[in-house]
Amino acid sequence: MHVKPNHTFEPKIVAFVCTWCTYAGADLAGTARLQYPANTRVVKFPCTGRIDPVFILRAFQKGADGVLVSGCHPGDCHYMAGNFHARRRFAAFRALLDFIGVDLQRLQFSWVSAAEGGKWVEVATELTERVRALGPMREFKELEAQEQWSGAIDSPELQEAYEAVGNI
Ligand code: FES
Repeated sequence: MHVKPNHTFEPKIVAFVCTWCTYAGADLAGTARLQYPANTRVVKFPCTGRIDPVFILRAFQKGADGVLVSGCHPGDCHYMAGNFHARRRFAAFRALLDFIGVDLQRLQFSWVSAAEGGKWVEVATELTERVRALGPMREFKELEAQEQWSGAIDSPELQEAYEAVGNI
């Protein structure tokens, strides 16, 4: 599907990265004076295995338009298998996001090592441009509206009605 670019919109991107590889790679990009979009807010963790999918949901709820999760390449995790756990968890989590109506193009998982400043720039730029073309994240606003609606189902008035029906 062709997505009309929205050049006036600057997306907010949150990048959850492991401190040993991707954070060091992003740092290298900075010291090498490589340019990448200022839209990216980097949050570091000891390992991608520590990044709970709930953090991603919270980032979207708090206004992120795109989320990047990045860590050490397979076999390079400083905690042995943290990135393998993360990869499995995010495969399942993506299916859940898809189910609740979030465009999966807004979420990216990548491997960037401490020596890959250039790859960091590519990944951050690509995600920012893709999300800029998609426009602001609206899915959660729609979900919030649905939640309000489902909250109405549990309203005291309706509970009373259910009980009344149950007593007939
Ligand atoms: S330490 Fe980098 S992914 Fe585990």
